[in-house]
Formats: sequence, C-alpha cells, structure tokens
Amino acid sequence: MNSYAVFHAPQKILYGRDSFLQTGKEAAATQAKKALIVTDEVMTRLGYVDQCEQLLLAEGISSIVYRGVATEPTDQYVAEALALLQQEACDLVISLGGGSCIDTAKAIVVLDANGGYIGDIRERPDCLAPRIPHIAIPTTAGTGSEATDVTVITNTADDVKMMLKNPVLMPTIAIVDPYLTRSAPPSVIAATGIDALSHAIEAFLSKKAHPLTNTLATSAIQHITSSLKRSYDDPYDLDAKERMCIGSLQAGMAFSNASVALVHGMSRPIGALFHVPHGISNAMLLPAVLEFSLRDCTKELAALLPLFQPETGRELMTVNEKAQATIQQIKELCQHLHIPNLRDWGIPEQAFRASLEKMAHDALASGSPGNNPRVPTKDELIALYVTCYDYTYDERPIGQNR
Ligand SMILES: [Fe+2]
Repeated sequence: MNSYAVFHAPQKILYGRDSFLQTGKEAAATQAKKALIVTDEVMTRLGYVDQCEQLLLAEGISSIVYRGVATEPTDQYVAEALALLQQEACDLVISLGGGSCIDTAKAIVVLDANGGYIGDIRERPDCLAPRIPHIAIPTTAGTGSEATDVTVITNTADDVKMMLKNPVLMPTIAIVDPYLTRSAPPSVIAATGIDALSHAIEAFLSKKAHPLTNTLATSAIQHITSSLKRSYDDPYDLDAKERMCIGSLQAGMAFSNASVALVHGMSRPIGALFHVPHGISNAMLLPAVLEFSLRDCTKELAALLPLFQPETGRELMTVNEKAQATIQQIKELCQHLHIPNLRDWGIPEQAFRASLEKMAHDALASGSPGNNPRVPTKDELIALYVTCYDYTYDERPIGQNR
C-alpha cells in the first residue's frame, strides 16, 4: 500500500448558475472545429441540445448529435456513438444529460484513442489518454460522473454492468449549472439525490478513504442533507438545486478517488438483470447495507450524525446510539422521498430468488464490496438481497434479523 494518495479531477470545473452559457467559449478554447453532442431525446425536447448547438455555433464550431442514449449505457450505444464520432471526424465530445450520457461519452473518447472493446479497458495500465477533449454537462444532481474516472457500461451479451475505472476516463472539463437540473421530475431528483448521498457515504466509509476525499465526502453529505428534501418538494427552489449540484460534484470526486463500496456493488446486478435505474436501486439498498455494516464502522457513522441533525443535543448518547441515529436519519430521508423496496418496484419474487446466486457472484466479482468496512461472504450477500426485497423504513431495532 502506498504511503501517499493520488487525486484525479477534471482539468477545469465551472459550476454555478449560467455556467452552461460558457460552453461555446470553453469548446473554442480546445481549438475544436466539430463537436459530437452525446445526449438523449428528453434533452432534445427540453431545448438544451438546440441551445448547446447555438452556443457552439456562436464560436464557429459545428456539431452533430447522437441522441440514442435511451436507457443506462450499453456497449451498443458506445459502438453507435463511436462510429458517428469517427465518421464525422469530430474533434470534441460534449455530453449533455444524466450520468448515462456522460458515461457513454467517456467510453467513446477512450475507445477512439485505444480501439478494442470497452470492457477491456478496466485498469489497463497502457491505456492511451483520449486524443480529443470531453466536456461533461450534467442535467441531474446525482451521478457526479462529470468529475469521476469511472464509467458503468452494460455488457449486453452477459447482462453484466461493467464498472470501469481508469484515469483516462476523466472528462477534460465539467460544467455544472443548476438551471439545467430544474427539469428533472421528483422521482429522478429522489433517485439521483440518494445516489449522490450513497457516493459520499461510501467514499467516507471506504477502506481507501483519505483526508482529501473525507473533506469532500463530508461537505457533500452536508450539502445533500440540507437540500434534497427541499429540491424534491419544490421544483422552483433554485438554492436547493444549487446545493445539490455542489454536493453531487463533491461526492463524485470523493468516490472517484476513494471508491464506492457494498451499496454500489449490490446495486449493479439489480440494474443489469431487472433494469432498475441506478439511483433507485442504490436507494433501495442504502439503509439495509448500513445496518449490515454498522458493526465495523460504528465510530465513522456516529461522526456523520451532526451532518444530518445539526441542532440536536447529543451529549448523553453513546457512540453506538449516534451511529444508529445516523442510519435512522437516512431511513427517514428515503421515506420522505418515497423510495420503494424491490418488491414494490415490481421485481417478480420468483425471478428475484432465481437470480440471487448470480447477483451475489457478480457483486463480489465487481470488487466494490471489498472496500466496505464489513466485507460480506456470498451467503451474507444473498441474505442482504433477501432483506432488501421486502425492506420497510419502520422502527425495528437495527441489526435485528428479518
Ligand atoms: Fe452511483
């Protein structure tokens, strides 16, 4: 193990209201002549794609659009967008949308430089840096993908979500404008918001955490807990949306440099097999996974309580009670955001039970559970999946078997 830490981030981050309007100028500074915009139909309908093209045109940059990112990214989207990039000889990629659009764009700039299949770039030490820049513009506050060196792409042949991490995946520039997140519906705000909270908590609890990532993770938790309910309840609360954008960005940088853990490890197989959006499946797992992990991270969870409940006197509480109170705060947040359990989401019980072995195998194989404070055995993982299937946010004693 190294005695020092390395921290990766985009070369430049613009954040705050109206930062999107700088897209043309930032693109021009890269000397680009033709941009590929990687996006989806929703962004097109909202007018963001047209606006982006106009901002580019004002700087003399032409553009073409790949708007085929209809679900979470697959190797098929990557192949289609890469073909378009190369046919049209683009010298800049702009991703405009949620994490799916950004993850697709990360994959194509790396494959453009390296060739081969996207699944093969995981930790490939000889991977070349992209030859063209990537400007990432998120329109949800959640994935933090604009500031991470991670992409998650589904291998459609095997129904496996591949978590690929490599410094060459880091976007060149991130532009984080809260105005762009105003169009997200409440269900997306809830799912992506809990995803961001999971990033921050998992980064903080990760065995790879270090002081710089902890600073970002704790600040992210504070931003998110002070604004997620407001952002969910009131679509016009721009202050809440701005805080969520900052929290999500910080959480992204934290987990990209400290890693995620058990929640994300368990979440990816659910997404791959049952097509549950990433944020929702994380949200459905977070409280139960923290209850499972509590035994081995009591002090750390206790230390997070003031970030959730700043005003309450805690002088008489034990460390264990504080840790449990932190989990309770998260459960109340999930309840407020109407996060369902796996059964209520509509996953058929028979199919779920038939997939337990594969899900546990794929989760462990991803490596993420190994960063968790308490590393589960395969049997414990299966039991956790079963717990999450019917999970409720009631007041049962934490740690009690269900
Ligand atoms: Fe995530």
